[in-house]
Amino acid sequence: MTANESERSKRHVNGDTQTKIIIETNYMPESKNKFQKIQVYEPAEDSELLLKMALVEVRSTDKVLEMGCARGVTSSKLRPLAQSLIATDINPHAIKMAKAEGINVIQADLFKGIRSCFDLVIFNPPYLPTGKDDRLKGWLNFAFDGGATGRDTINPFLETLKEHLSPGGRALLLISSLSGPENVKEKAKKEGLRAKTVAKEKYFFEELIVLKLIPERAID
Ligand SMILES: C[S@@+](CC[C@H](N)C(=O)[O-])C[C@H]1O[C@@H](n2cnc3c(N)ncnc32)[C@H](O)[C@@H]1O
Repeated sequence: MTANESERSKRHVNGDTQTKIIIETNYMPESKNKFQKIQVYEPAEDSELLLKMALVEVRSTDKVLEMGCARGVTSSKLRPLAQSLIATDINPHAIKMAKAEGINVIQADLFKGIRSCFDLVIFNPPYLPTGKDDRLKGWLNFAFDGGATGRDTINPFLETLKEHLSPGGRALLLISSLSGPENVKEKAKKEGLRAKTVAKEKYFFEELIVLKLIPERAID
């Protein structure tokens, strides 16, 4: 992102322009740290809701994976409550920020390159339907851009989740009413996962939803 650049992201819902996220960056980057900060998602209502449910779900024996950890805020709160925690993000600026928080973090695109299994996986993915004109410049776009349906990252996550869950493992996935919850549940079912809504919170133009995902084989 260049100095004095101004970016604004508008979300189009049912023909109306709704302002979900407004990012105005009229700034001169004073330092590398400041530049890094504006490239990495800052915790918001969705982060809080997922954290709230993760705090209920986590057990002291759990090997936890937080996918898409951004600044590492959620990971640093969960880490003391679990047996171990590893975090990932696709954004290299996020990796640096999370490392600075003392998080054990690696750069990865979803589960690519990850061989381990986990007892608890949590993910607040980019879930907003995003057209070409809505895209942000730079790495911050990875925090929001869910592709045309909002499910471009959610679907491949669901396709590989099961093979990374230990016996008895479960996952918490944050989605929005804008990302087509029924489609997400259907996709989960196709991938052999049962999806249960464990939390819902209404905002002015969307509902945030936390799904708990468990392999069907674990339910039988
Ligand atoms: C909505 S932000 C959530 C950040 C943080 N977990 C929170 O709740 O505040 C989504 C995060 O997922 C990361 N991300 C997006 N696509 C990813 C992918 N394919 N693999 C790993 N991380 C990804 C983004 O870089 C971003 O940090």
